[in-house]
Amino acid sequence: MSDKIESRLQETRRFSPSKKFSDSAKIKNVDDYKALYKQSIEDPEAFWREQTRDLVFRAPFTKFSEWTLPHAKFFVGAKLNLTESCLDRHLTTDVRNRAAIIWEGEPGETRTLTYFELHREVVRLSAALTDHGVKAGDRIAIYMGMVPEAVVAMLACARLGATHSVVFGGFSSEALRDRINDCQAKVLITQDGAWRRGNVVPLKKLADAAVAHTPSIERVVVFSRMGNDACPVTMTEGRDIWWSDLLSHPASEASLKNARSPEAFDAEHPLFILYTSGSTGKPKGVLHSTAGYLAGAHVTAKYIFDLKPTDLYWCTADIGWVTGHSYIVYGPLSNGASCLLYEGAPNAPDPGRFWKIIERHGVTVLYTAPTAIRAFIRWGNEWPAKYDLSSLRLLGSVGEPINPEAWMWYRNIIGQERCPIVDTWWQTETGAVMLTTMPGAHATKPGSTGLPFFGVDIDVVKDRGESCGANEGGKLIIRKPWPSMARTLYGDDARFHEAYWSQMPGVYFTGDGARRDEDGYFWVVGRIDDVLNVAGHRIGTAEIESALVSHPAVAEAAAVGKPDELKGQALVVFVTLKGGIKGDDAMKKSLGEHIDKEIGKFARPDQVRFADALPKTRSGKIMRRLLRDVAAGVAETRGDTSTLEDLSVLATLRGDEE
Ligand code: WTA
Repeated sequence: MSDKIESRLQETRRFSPSKKFSDSAKIKNVDDYKALYKQSIEDPEAFWREQTRDLVFRAPFTKFSEWTLPHAKFFVGAKLNLTESCLDRHLTTDVRNRAAIIWEGEPGETRTLTYFELHREVVRLSAALTDHGVKAGDRIAIYMGMVPEAVVAMLACARLGATHSVVFGGFSSEALRDRINDCQAKVLITQDGAWRRGNVVPLKKLADAAVAHTPSIERVVVFSRMGNDACPVTMTEGRDIWWSDLLSHPASEASLKNARSPEAFDAEHPLFILYTSGSTGKPKGVLHSTAGYLAGAHVTAKYIFDLKPTDLYWCTADIGWVTGHSYIVYGPLSNGASCLLYEGAPNAPDPGRFWKIIERHGVTVLYTAPTAIRAFIRWGNEWPAKYDLSSLRLLGSVGEPINPEAWMWYRNIIGQERCPIVDTWWQTETGAVMLTTMPGAHATKPGSTGLPFFGVDIDVVKDRGESCGANEGGKLIIRKPWPSMARTLYGDDARFHEAYWSQMPGVYFTGDGARRDEDGYFWVVGRIDDVLNVAGHRIGTAEIESALVSHPAVAEAAAVGKPDELKGQALVVFVTLKGGIKGDDAMKKSLGEHIDKEIGKFARPDQVRFADALPKTRSGKIMRRLLRDVAAGVAETRGDTSTLEDLSVLATLRGDEE
């Protein structure tokens, strides 16, 4: 691929939505966007009151917001059961019989759940969970693949006021165990296995290994996706129960009553924990609360995807990441949208799978990641060319910076020059999209994430907090709290302050670098802290390093990113081994397998390099910038890089600059 992210500096192309698209869009022109944006900043209370009118509140807020940083509250005093906005409110309208979820399994079977059916399943599961002792405030871990039951499980927790912690199905047993122990989850909801590229991911087996070391887990609920032939499992008596058995016993009257007319919770009631990587230490349990999060997910989904009753909307993210939470579950369902859910890999059984799904179901809005787009480019245009993509009307990108070449391919080959592209920038911590274009209003520029969403006071600043000039690179920060922001890190409020609110007084630091051009468009470069974004997966260098040093042969390790044409960034690790141990291919393999086990296969290093010592400053800090240069091939080491590298020479040359 010829262009790099840097080529975005020279990018001058722009594309405007067609008149046809704009005429039917919710935000039709720049003036409408500006007027609403102005209101959202100057009178946020009026803006959010108006924009959340169709959500269900049992008691209205008495004060819109109050904050003493880093803590903020929104919709103060409001009471709600969030699932009523996603389910119950649709039962009295013509949304009732509309598909909420159209699911396609990797082998090709499909299932549809209407809003009526989704509501019924959520009520049944929440009643059954109540009978098994689940109460408001409990933590429930969910370790599932992409099946409708994962959505049912999340909503059933939310209905009961139990805080869900979804753990991505690609995480290892160890990673699951740590996340369960960190939040002391009482119940684990999982499934026997899931299909991934023709293979069975044995989720229950992996869960068993985790639960052997999680004393807080009282019950494991197992959804049967595969059946005993494809994926036999062992059920532990007294602890494990099949999902179908759980639902086959009629729930008690009291629990059913409570599930049908659920309790209303405070606006700030914790809704979910989602673990994500930071620049130091163990994963952070990002905690989101109820009303503000729902409001953010609802309003962004509505305007950015311009959702209409005729749409079939497909977000290809996994439910285990924040994109799955906000844009598979809470955002689209609170808007009554019909969502496609696909279980498997994009190249199963062949690289045409996504396009086949679009043709088969008539998908109109596609929301995916740059890494996927770059993989599609590599697989060749003959795959999309085989299918009818004329149903598509809007495309979205998320998760990492998109290079202009990938953007243009997405526009020309998938969107057939007809579909606007929204490149949405946001984070697990922001809960909802912060930067985007409005598809019917704004011209788009390949590689730019556009403008601030409503209510978002965002800027690019220098180290001391003063705004950068046009096209000047700096740190991306948010100046004021916003409704869907994370409320804290579960069990570690001090770290919440330290990680986001301590760099510059009174502002939220995103960890990203960016610039803003002369039209006010943002161009996000990527992380400038020690967090990597490998194929759209957020990986903390500290986590990789601590996993590596837990390997018996490793003395010291440093993980850095290196530009990669397919994955955006590739993970390179420099390792020094304990005395006398040889750094050979067998050791590389062993270290890779160790990461699979400690974190998950998606975090496996792309390159393992052995060094006799790591370059350090006089104060003992590893010189990461130097290692990044070595990894990228900018700086050469003297040693033979395939065996042992002499990095000390470079360290001496560079001095103590970091
Ligand atoms: C990066 C995913 C450029 C960014 C929703 C951010 C992006 C991190 C974009 C958050 C985008 C996300 N353009 N970079 N459109 N979207 N990022 O928490 O570095 O998994 O800080 O949330 O992904 O990753 P997270």
